[in-house]
Amino acid sequence: MGESLNGLKRTIMCGELRESHISEKVTVMGWVQRKRNLGGLVFIDLRDRTGILQVVFGEAINKEAFEKADLAKSEYCIAVTGEIVKRESPNSNIPTGMVELKGESIKILSESETPPIYIKENLDAAENVRLKYRYLDLRRPDMQNIFMIRNRANKIVRDYLDENGFLEIETPMLTKSTPEGARDYLVPSRNYPGMFYALPQSPQIFKQLLMVSGFDKYYQIVKCFRDEDLRANRQPEFTQIDMEMSFVEMEDIIALNEGLIKRVFKEIKGIDVNLPIKRMPYREAMEKYGSDKPDLRFGMEIKNITDSVRNSEFAVFKNAIENNGSVRALTVKGSSDMGRKKIDKLGEFVKTYKAKGLAWIAYKQDEIKSPIAKFFSEDEMKNILSAADAEVGDLVLIVADVDSVVLQALGALRLELAKELELLKDNKEFNFVWITEFPLVEYDEEEKRCVAIHHPFTCPMDEDLELLDTDPLKVRAKAYDIVLNGEELGGGSIRIHDTKLQEKMFTLLGFTKESAWERFGFLLEGFKFGPPPHGGLAYGFDRMIMFLAETENIKDVIAFPKNQNAYCPMSEAPNVVDDKQLKELALNIDKIDNKEE
Ligand code: AMO
Ligand code: AMP
Repeated sequence: MGESLNGLKRTIMCGELRESHISEKVTVMGWVQRKRNLGGLVFIDLRDRTGILQVVFGEAINKEAFEKADLAKSEYCIAVTGEIVKRESPNSNIPTGMVELKGESIKILSESETPPIYIKENLDAAENVRLKYRYLDLRRPDMQNIFMIRNRANKIVRDYLDENGFLEIETPMLTKSTPEGARDYLVPSRNYPGMFYALPQSPQIFKQLLMVSGFDKYYQIVKCFRDEDLRANRQPEFTQIDMEMSFVEMEDIIALNEGLIKRVFKEIKGIDVNLPIKRMPYREAMEKYGSDKPDLRFGMEIKNITDSVRNSEFAVFKNAIENNGSVRALTVKGSSDMGRKKIDKLGEFVKTYKAKGLAWIAYKQDEIKSPIAKFFSEDEMKNILSAADAEVGDLVLIVADVDSVVLQALGALRLELAKELELLKDNKEFNFVWITEFPLVEYDEEEKRCVAIHHPFTCPMDEDLELLDTDPLKVRAKAYDIVLNGEELGGGSIRIHDTKLQEKMFTLLGFTKESAWERFGFLLEGFKFGPPPHGGLAYGFDRMIMFLAETENIKDVIAFPKNQNAYCPMSEAPNVVDDKQLKELALNIDKIDNKEE
């Protein structure tokens, strides 16, 4: 049973009350965090999204209110009116701790059952319970704080882009497959039985068409949909800060976005991001860190030791080199005493990245311990250690194979070691880097053709245009990613606006003229009418909020996220639909294999 407000107005939020409010009469509304009855007095900690305020009811203050307050239980929704007074025993743990509210009247606006999760900070409840009762999970102060950060970041971004002359324009959600390379979410059409809309993986094509329209500077904070395997930083439905600009080159887009990053991190975290943000070509990132999103908060760079083992008789190294591969190493400072078991575990770890093994050298004060020592002379060993930049006390970990395997395995091992050795514990750094000069295409073994690394509209670098015909895998693109602490925060490119070049690109990607037109015809048609040179970028907004809110789980920054299986335990989506609906859509369901949660 809930009382109605009946004209009662809230005058202030709980968390705002301070000593300056003493003697003021206020009305606050919120939820009962805790109630204690100490005989003649009832204390209620009242919570709203701004904080907690202590309210005291007493027979001597107001008997009726005192008796009613005693009926309240955890999570009852109440309104209290009374005077702010100085608190007898201040609580320095909360901002309102110097004052309390003398409850002169109370309305119980609604009752609550005992909540299935405890509403408090740093709750450690099972995730599926949290998601099932997400609205209660969202009552927790730490969760509410995240959404206040999200709201502020959103406004800062809008203000910044607005000041810089951008227009926010919405693009369709019911559309045709977009070229970002994940699986589409499809929506069946009733008007065209057997046909489907695709939900956008990004507004890519539409934003390019807006450039053809002359909108010049477009942005949108927009939902995108991708049916792909979920991870800690991936959701099927996520938000991008998406932008596109005309008459610009890469430098212009980077400069504008450095300003945006600086503003957001300054206003929310109080951090001065030093500009310009450093840049690293893709090739260097791969060679040194085995990743196109290197975490630069620590060193431990990969060293190429191929030359120092070129003449060795160790079959593993020899074969790798003969097969056009390489031998590379990570030097772990001060870890020459790492136990055998731990090293073996690292060996198992790299095998999950297709490495066939992990050779190691422990460079100790008085000896060199290594299962491969027998294959090398003393001089050769010295050369290896020097090529690996190893000093006494270090452990050298080596993988030999084709480059792609070596770099991927050592890149992953580097991150694993940082975790294992707690290299980033208490690290508060925000280490940004632009990765540039991405390859334009890569070879897809399964499809037996080149595929675009970014998307088919990304422009090759002018210097490499000639290689398009002769050695396309060597062509670099005018593409750039912004990476923060080893995560891809965003990415973009300068687009092709020349029809001939675009046709060449499609040919390279194995599209026939017909198949390219079938998929992207409306863009190609638009490009017949004077497309301006243009380019853009999109951030993962949720990922940005993860950094701003310092959480490692993307679900924390999305109000109603899906679980690991793309299921929503609260709304129970996806779910079955009526036969009538199926019929209207001309859909026949013949196989049901429900794997909920
Ligand atoms: P891209 O595919 O790199 O580029 O996406 C841009 C950014 O979106 C974020 N992101 C995701 N975040 C959460 N969950 C997901 N499943 C997910 N997938 C991507 C990443 C990524 O950097 N149209 C181009 C942009 C452009 O060229 O302008 C695009 O979508 O942070
Ligand atoms: P083996 O002589 O095969 O016992 O290998 C000797 C050492 O080389 C072991 O520590 C293996 O883990 C390691 N090893 C095997 N394959 C590779 C590889 N491809 N790269 C680096 N080390 C390897």
